[in-house]
Amino acid sequence: MMKADPQVTVRKARVDATPDWGCLGIFVFAGERGEGAENWPLGEESRVSIRRILDRNDWAGKAKRTTVVLHDRGPSPFLIALIGLGKREEFNLERLRDAAARAGKASLAHGEGRLAIFMDPSHLGLPGREAGGAVAEGAILGPYSFSAYKTLDREEEEELQALTILVPKWAKLRAIRTEVAAAETICRAVNLARDLTSMPANELTPSVLAEKAQALAAGRARMKTTILSAPEMKRLGMNALLGVASGSDQEPKFIVLSYSGAEAETAPIVFVGKALTFDSGGISLKPAEKMDEMKSDMAGGAAVLAAVLAAADLGLPVDVLALVPATENMPGGKAYRPGDILRSMSGKTIEVVNTDAEGRLILADALHYASRFEPAAVIDVATLTGACVVALGERVAGLMGTDGPLKEEIKHAAEQTGEMVWELPLWENYQEQIKSEVADFKNSAGRMGGAITAAAFLSKFVGPYPWAHLDIAGPAWLSKEAAYRPKGATGVGVRLLVRLLRNRSGR
Ligand code: BES
Ligand code: MN
Ligand code: ZN
Repeated sequence: MMKADPQVTVRKARVDATPDWGCLGIFVFAGERGEGAENWPLGEESRVSIRRILDRNDWAGKAKRTTVVLHDRGPSPFLIALIGLGKREEFNLERLRDAAARAGKASLAHGEGRLAIFMDPSHLGLPGREAGGAVAEGAILGPYSFSAYKTLDREEEEELQALTILVPKWAKLRAIRTEVAAAETICRAVNLARDLTSMPANELTPSVLAEKAQALAAGRARMKTTILSAPEMKRLGMNALLGVASGSDQEPKFIVLSYSGAEAETAPIVFVGKALTFDSGGISLKPAEKMDEMKSDMAGGAAVLAAVLAAADLGLPVDVLALVPATENMPGGKAYRPGDILRSMSGKTIEVVNTDAEGRLILADALHYASRFEPAAVIDVATLTGACVVALGERVAGLMGTDGPLKEEIKHAAEQTGEMVWELPLWENYQEQIKSEVADFKNSAGRMGGAITAAAFLSKFVGPYPWAHLDIAGPAWLSKEAAYRPKGATGVGVRLLVRLLRNRSGR
């Protein structure tokens, strides 16, 4: 049902007598006139003709510009995409991902599903490994679209079938191939997270999400799933989660997906992901405008599931778990109400002042539950607050937490993957705001500093482990596309979490 990602191969470029590239992508820096053209996989005559185009025009190399020309020498005509990289001094891996994404999209826009990209690491001034990974990421993630439910007008939705990364003959093919294969695995996980996030709430219920997690784990070594249903939650005392679920006819599920890749017994890393398959706001009902987008309120859950799957597929030598409390937040006769007091699994009591501040309630029980795994670190990922989007804009995730080194580790991984995070302070003064007059805490402290007071609330349920929190309310769902991130679901967090695991395991 879902679309497949392209078949990716890496090979050495050579000049073919009968070239049959669907679309051949060539990177061009601003102001360049075909530097490095002697290595292009094109014959002399073709190189000269491309150079002539570049000679006459400044536009081809500009960042964000892609110029497609038809190559009609030789037996079979094909497309050449001149992919602008912008100024050399501003160039980095993120630009390269963006450029590769544009090549993919330009190829598809011309109805061509076969893309070859020529990548010369020395021309780019980057290590071959990293450059190959970035090209693959951009070209796989960029052309993605969610069309699983479209039955009409399918031609326009042409997908990328094959991606060939061509490298010069002196390039270290093995290292590049390894990194490109890793990028493929990771991007498959990102696109899975996007698919799940885009799926409508009538199709992706908590039960369906749990079944999907189970099915994905079933085919993989060293993976396990445990699904807790409502009676078990009740037995465990997860009343904050059950409170949120009470208004819905859909059964809540608590998904535990684990991958044990470490050789010896080690403390696992635990990812916790908020999964509201739909957040209507509950009795504190949200306004109608954009309420449909709240099908994506499980983006955190999707990201942590996908990240653990990728860790397994990469065979990383780590033990890692995804904990995903999954439920709907609905109004109704059985729904929890403002004023209700919930006794969380930790024993701490919570006054519900707003049923729309439900994410922190389900995370409270999940963060408490996490302690039983004696984790080396816990990172939760959640579309938690509109306030975070107001503070940082829709492109940037908020980072908060109680452990300095863990936060630094996250910042570093985020810089590597181009997923922007920015730390917000979790100072003592914010803790005041979440005290309740009738219970231990209240679930909302109003609008001021809303992203931080939400994190302050979470911190009350954190166990004796290093903890950090990512509020992805902004970047999980974009109002307009941004380079290799599509409009709508982005799968943000997947690459970051996998990068963090790879950094920890030296891979
Ligand atoms: N899921 C929302 C947060 C959200 C808003 C995510 C916009 C993505 C885009 C969350 O459950 C919520 O409703 N938060 C409230 C908290 C408030 C009631 C304290 C919010 O942000 O308004
Ligand atoms: Mn809400
Ligand atoms: Zn929510």
